[in-house]
Amino acid sequence: MLDHCPTLARDGEQVVILDQTRLPWTEHFLRLDTLTDAAVAIRDMQVRGAPLIGATAAFGMALALKADASDAALAHADTVLRATRPTAVNLHWALDRMQDALAPLPALERPAAAWAAAEAIRAGDAAANAAIGEHGKAILEALAATKGRPLQLMTHCNAGWLATCGHGTALAPIYAAHTAGIPLHVFVSETRPRNQGLLTAWELARAGVPHTLIADNAAGWLLAEGRVDLVITGADRIAANGDSANKVGTYLKALAARAHGVPFYIAAPRSTIDFACPNGRAIPIEERSADEVRLIHGLDDHGTAARLRIAGDTTAACNPAFDVTPAGLLAGIICEFGVFAADALAAIEHR
Ligand code: MRU
Repeated sequence: MLDHCPTLARDGEQVVILDQTRLPWTEHFLRLDTLTDAAVAIRDMQVRGAPLIGATAAFGMALALKADASDAALAHADTVLRATRPTAVNLHWALDRMQDALAPLPALERPAAAWAAAEAIRAGDAAANAAIGEHGKAILEALAATKGRPLQLMTHCNAGWLATCGHGTALAPIYAAHTAGIPLHVFVSETRPRNQGLLTAWELARAGVPHTLIADNAAGWLLAEGRVDLVITGADRIAANGDSANKVGTYLKALAARAHGVPFYIAAPRSTIDFACPNGRAIPIEERSADEVRLIHGLDDHGTAARLRIAGDTTAACNPAFDVTPAGLLAGIICEFGVFAADALAAIEHR
């Protein structure tokens, strides 16, 4: 199954990442050597997914301190990394932890401590993924027991091992259930404009999980037709009241799921919950380049990576990268501490 998830690895004084901008067509690994390399990797989405963004920022801090571990360098690296992407709060969570670990130390001790703290963040995320997998599997198992056929699931974006340091968030329960022999099938929405659904299809294919790629617009109809038993996605920032920001398009699925009585779950680690953010209106939503809407990427007839313009470059295009699903649409939030009603997150604020 999932024996090796090479999203991010330390190699001596460098970091090796799987370049997600070239997936699912090419498996290409990149070496990060500097703070700038790490910041570019996050901003340009060579790494992506909230937990992986956080872990990369932590390792980016370690890369920065190789050259200079002074207070000024620490503050500079922190500022540069925090500015890379605005929505995933795991970025700030990880950098807060790095600051807590490094700021009290003398400069001489900081480089080694930075690598250790980054490794701890990565290991903690992998452990959280595993726990999410088990809690979510219990939900899938119970639902499967009521069906005399394979469970029909739907997900959006990519919240699998590519997006984390372990087996994923939304995909962790799916992998755990599949490994446990629960028959299931996953509808994977392509997730325009960046098509992270293609990454999910690629992951699921590698793990042998039955799945079907759908156009984003097909989700509502499949839900209306009773062809989906449960929807599960990840999140990039969950407000204190349970409102959850995730990849744009998540909200529409949650609305359609509610309309047709299908449970909609968010799976995310504690590091995705922002208790300083009272509700969804306070979550900053990343607005990305209009060219992500005007251009599509793929392989041409010769199997060569190619870019196609589908709208003129003067066509106005709007590209919010995330949307917010109100807490009231969620059947529950699955985190490493269990499954919580969206309005009951206070129970884990201090964990
Ligand atoms: O823009 P991305 O690809 O970084 O967005 C990723 C998502 O929205 C994921 O669903 C979310 O980060 C959860 S990942 C475990």
